[in-house]
Amino acid sequence: MTVHAVITGVGSYLPERILTNADLEALVETSDEWIFSRTGISERRLAEPDEATSDLAARAGKATLADAGVDAGDVDLLVVGTSTPDMFFPSTACITQDKLGLSCPAFDVNAACTGFIYALQCGVAAIESGRARCVLVIGADALTRHVDFQDRSTCVLFGDGAGAVLLQAAEEPGVLGIVLGSDGSGADMLKVPAGGSAAPATVERIENREHYLQMAGNDVFKFAVRVIPTVTKQALSASQLEVSDLAWLVPHQANQRILNTVEERLGIEHEKVYSNLERTGNTSAASIPLALDELYTAGRISKGDNIAFVGFGAGLTFGAAVVRWTKNAPNKEA
Ligand code: UT7
Repeated sequence: MTVHAVITGVGSYLPERILTNADLEALVETSDEWIFSRTGISERRLAEPDEATSDLAARAGKATLADAGVDAGDVDLLVVGTSTPDMFFPSTACITQDKLGLSCPAFDVNAACTGFIYALQCGVAAIESGRARCVLVIGADALTRHVDFQDRSTCVLFGDGAGAVLLQAAEEPGVLGIVLGSDGSGADMLKVPAGGSAAPATVERIENREHYLQMAGNDVFKFAVRVIPTVTKQALSASQLEVSDLAWLVPHQANQRILNTVEERLGIEHEKVYSNLERTGNTSAASIPLALDELYTAGRISKGDNIAFVGFGAGLTFGAAVVRWTKNAPNKEA
């Protein structure tokens, strides 16, 4: 009998501290009007100085297990999508595993903002192959730790957060299709140049601010509006579905203008393209599961709904997943 992976729990965590566009006006030469009209973002969350990516991940993971009603001891794999690990090693997944009291294998996946879709693929593959029956998949990032708050073209975009799903083996189909892609020829478009093996941290590199995120925003924008519609259609086709079969498109939250363009190119109704960008900014690997948790907790997803997740990011990477919702109402307060 074919084994399928279904989502049985959803959870997320946003740090308390809010950084508004007005706060950014005090740091760099920008305006609330520019930021909101060019990106759709009004505010984002900042992790506290003593809050690392694993803390955000553990909060989201705990909420997800509670929602699913599953004990930590029953999880047999933990995959964390992140590009802002607590440190180079050990993996953030191992640190998160300890914080959650899990005893299963744990590893990180770095596909930048596409991290959640890549991590989901790992979890689904483990279940479908029979290697695991219960996989916790977390997307967590603290990108504000790597953003240059002197660079107005990037510092207005990013926020911190975490989101997660629990996947379990089932007879009925849940995750229907996933398509991933990468194009390393675009690696220079979005990167943190220094601090790795190519350019280890030196005083000079830090003085040149090379340990901060750098981005060719226009190029990433063009890449996003090209790949998102294509990969979404590929994942739908792998699931034998059409755009019109979708109840929701939950895209990576990077820029409202990207979402509007994608909506037009896919020919999907505006009301079906979920956006929480205004309140969260771009939370990288966390953005899709965070958005999903908001929709789910608000009771806006019904059993039987077809939902597509689609992401893109540094690498360059991209990917989409199509899910048939099998869960009943959430096990938590909205
Ligand atoms: O997860 C993947 C992560 N990345 C993305 O998704 C980024 C995709 N790209 C974007 O979202 C957009 O390209 C940005 C929001 C980054 C930039 O928007 P844009 O409309 O492409 O602006 P631009 O880079 O073409 O800049 C237009 C102008 C420039 O001034 P000049 O040269 O025309 O005088 C910039 O210096 O806007 C200026 N500018 C700003 N002005 C006020 C850039 N950032 C700001 C700012 N405040 N924060």
